[in-house]
Amino acid sequence: MEKQVAIRLISLLILATMVTAAIDKSPKAVEKWFKNLPHAKQKTTRFHFYFHEIFGGENQTAPVIAQANITSQSATFFGMLRMFDNPLTVGPEPNSKQVGRAEGIHGAPSMTELTLFFNFNFVFTDGPYNGSTLSVLGRVAESQEYRELPIIGGSGVFRLAQGIATAKTYFSNDTLVIVEYNLIVLHY
Ligand SMILES: *[C@@H]1O[C@H](CO)[C@@H](O)[C@H](O)[C@H]1NC(C)=O
Ligand SMILES: *[C@@H]1O[C@H](CO)[C@@H](O)[C@H](O)[C@H]1NC(C)=O
Ligand SMILES: *[C@@H]1O[C@H](CO)[C@@H](O)[C@H](O)[C@H]1NC(C)=O
Ligand SMILES: *[C@@H]1O[C@H](CO)[C@@H](O)[C@H](O)[C@H]1NC(C)=O
Repeated sequence: MEKQVAIRLISLLILATMVTAAIDKSPKAVEKWFKNLPHAKQKTTRFHFYFHEIFGGENQTAPVIAQANITSQSATFFGMLRMFDNPLTVGPEPNSKQVGRAEGIHGAPSMTELTLFFNFNFVFTDGPYNGSTLSVLGRVAESQEYRELPIIGGSGVFRLAQGIATAKTYFSNDTLVIVEYNLIVLHY
């Protein structure tokens, strides 16, 4: 029995080392990775998850961090900026398994339309992507059913990544929005 537990612990340790060893972030490792780039095959990875943002009431994940003095008079919240740290989950339920966080800022950049510009990172915390990030920069309009956000880079497993994130509101009320995300990512 004890032996079995020990063997299990050892294989867990080996697995953990393999997973962490997969992303060596030292300059030497990055140099080696870069040198091998001409021989590296481009991969396509897809993700599907839900993003939960609490922007009002208790336990906010996206508080307002700045706003202009004209924001309160603007029908489009022009000039409002929020910092967010939103959980990403496998399913739409708040207690569904968490696979990462979306961390960054969004703000209202239009004086005439309900829009948001986004600048954030998907920070993966699970499985082979644990510790890797994808960087997003883009604009979405409230009027769009599907919102498209460019993925402009990444780190770890996603070095030099490019991709497309599409977002669709799954649920929203006055304090919470749950957004369904589909990602297609090209990386090496
Ligand atoms: C906010 O968080 C506290 C502490 O975790 C919890 O007791 C409370 O129920 C939460 N409030 C809401 C509205 O979820
Ligand atoms: C906003 O700030 C500017 C510059 O300080 C000032 O001139 C303007 O009167 C302010 N507007 C309002 C609505 O407070
Ligand atoms: C992800 O990586 C962190 C830091 O290396 C580690 O503490 C954590 O246990 C890992 N999580 C999973 C689910 O593998
Ligand atoms: C929004 O929905 C969530 C989840 O159902 C609920 O906890 C919250 O109280 C709702 N907020 C409002 C303002 O209705």
